[in-house]
Amino acid sequence: MSPPVALARPLTLPNGQVLPNRILKSAMSETLGTPTHAPSAALPVLYRRWARGGVGLSITGNVMIDWRALGEPGNVVVEDDRDLDALSAWAAAGASEGGAIWVQLNHPGKQSPSFLNKGTVAPSAVGFGPELARAFGVPRALEEAEIEDLIERFGRSAAVMKSAGFHGVQIHGAHGYLVSQFLSPHHNRRTDRWGGSLHNRARFCREVYAEIRRQVGPDFGVGIKINSADFQQGGFSEAESAEVIVGLAEAGIDLVEISGGTYEAPAMTGRSQKASTRAREGYFLSFVEGLRSSVKVPLAVTGGFRTAAGMEAAVQDGAADLVGLARTLAIQPDFPKQVLAGDDPTSLVRPLSTGVKAVDKVAMLDVTWFENQLARMGQGQEPDPDLGGWSSLARTIWAQGSQAFKIRRAKG
Ligand SMILES: Cc1cc2nc3c(=O)[nH]c(=O)nc-3n(C[C@H](O)[C@H](O)[C@H](O)COP(=O)(O)O)c2cc1C
Repeated sequence: MSPPVALARPLTLPNGQVLPNRILKSAMSETLGTPTHAPSAALPVLYRRWARGGVGLSITGNVMIDWRALGEPGNVVVEDDRDLDALSAWAAAGASEGGAIWVQLNHPGKQSPSFLNKGTVAPSAVGFGPELARAFGVPRALEEAEIEDLIERFGRSAAVMKSAGFHGVQIHGAHGYLVSQFLSPHHNRRTDRWGGSLHNRARFCREVYAEIRRQVGPDFGVGIKINSADFQQGGFSEAESAEVIVGLAEAGIDLVEISGGTYEAPAMTGRSQKASTRAREGYFLSFVEGLRSSVKVPLAVTGGFRTAAGMEAAVQDGAADLVGLARTLAIQPDFPKQVLAGDDPTSLVRPLSTGVKAVDKVAMLDVTWFENQLARMGQGQEPDPDLGGWSSLARTIWAQGSQAFKIRRAKG
C-alpha cells in the first residue's frame, strides 16, 4: 500500500495549534491514578509509548473535576494545582515526539457506581433501567448553585492543565455522563433554565465551554466529545446533536469528536447498533458526513476504525478531519506509525471471552482486558494482544482484589 496522503497532512485548529497528522488517540480511562487520585508514574511511561507510535493528538482518559464524583477507582482527579509536577511529567511525555496531548475532563453525574460515592447527582432524579439499577443508585437533582459550581470547576481544572503544559482539554460530553445527561430529554426533566427546550438543555454544555475558554484564553485547545445520538428511547437525537455542534462551533470550539451511546446503550463500542452499522468501518461516519455541510469546525470521528484504507477514506472524502482510535491502540501502539508508513497493519481487536458467558459479564472483560494492556504499557512492557480472558481476569483480581467484580462502567 502506498502511504496515505490525507491522514499524513498536518491540521491547523482554530486556536492556531498545528497537529502533525490526522490520527487521534481517543480517550481510554487508564485507571492509573494513585490511591489519592494523583497521576501515577505509569502515566508518562504509557503516553511516551503512544507518542513513539506516531499519534498526532493524544487525548487522555477521563480526568475527574470533582473529588466527590468518581467514575471508577483509579481515576485521576484535578481540582487544583497540588499535583502539578506529576501532571507536567504526563504532559511532557505525551508531547515527546512532536504530537499534541489534551486532557479529557469529566463529571460522571449518575454514571458513578454506588460503591464508590456517597450518592450521585444529575440534572434530574431519574434512575437506571433494571439491568444497571443495582450498581448505580438513583441520583439527586442538582441545585442551581451546584450547577454553577460545577461549571466553574471545569474551568479551574482546565486552567491547571494549561499550567501543566498540556495543549488542550476535551469536555466529555458523550456516553451518558453529566454533560450528556443535561443534553438528553430522557435524563434531564428540569423545568428551570437548565431543562426543557434544546436551548435550555444545552446551556450546561455551552457554559462549561465558555467558562473553560474564559479561564484558558484563545490559544489553548478546547474541544468536546459528543454523542451523535444516545441510542436510547427519548434520548438526545441526531438532529439535536447537529444543532448543539453548530452552536459550539459558532462559539469558537476547536475540535468536535463524534461518538455515541451511554452505559445503557453502549453504541460507542458497536453494541446497540444495527448489524449494517457495525459492519461499516466507522460507526458514526454517516452522521459526520451529514454534519459536514453545516460546520467548518474540525471534526473527529471515533469508533470501529480497523484498517488504514477505512481511516484514509474517512479523511480523504472530507467528512472527518481526524480519525480516532481507542482499542487498537491499547494493543498496537505503533498502529499510527505503520499506517502512515504505508504498511497495512491489521487491527487485532477481537471479541473477548473466557469461554463462559456469565463470567465474561461479571468480569467486564470488554473494559478490564484493555485496562490490563494499558497497565502493562505503563510498566514499560509491551501490550499482549494474545492475553487470554482467564489470564486477564486473574490479573484484574490481583490488582483490584474485591473491587474486581463490582460493576464500574460500560466502556466510554
Ligand atoms: C478501556 C476503555 C476505556 C475507555 N474510556 C473512555 C474515556 O475515559 N472517555 C471516553 O470518551 N471514551 C472512553 N472509551 C471509549 C473510546 O474512546 C472509544 O470511543 C471506543 O472504544 C470506540 O473506539 P474504538 O472502536 O477505536 O475502540 C473507552 C474505551 C475503552 C475500551
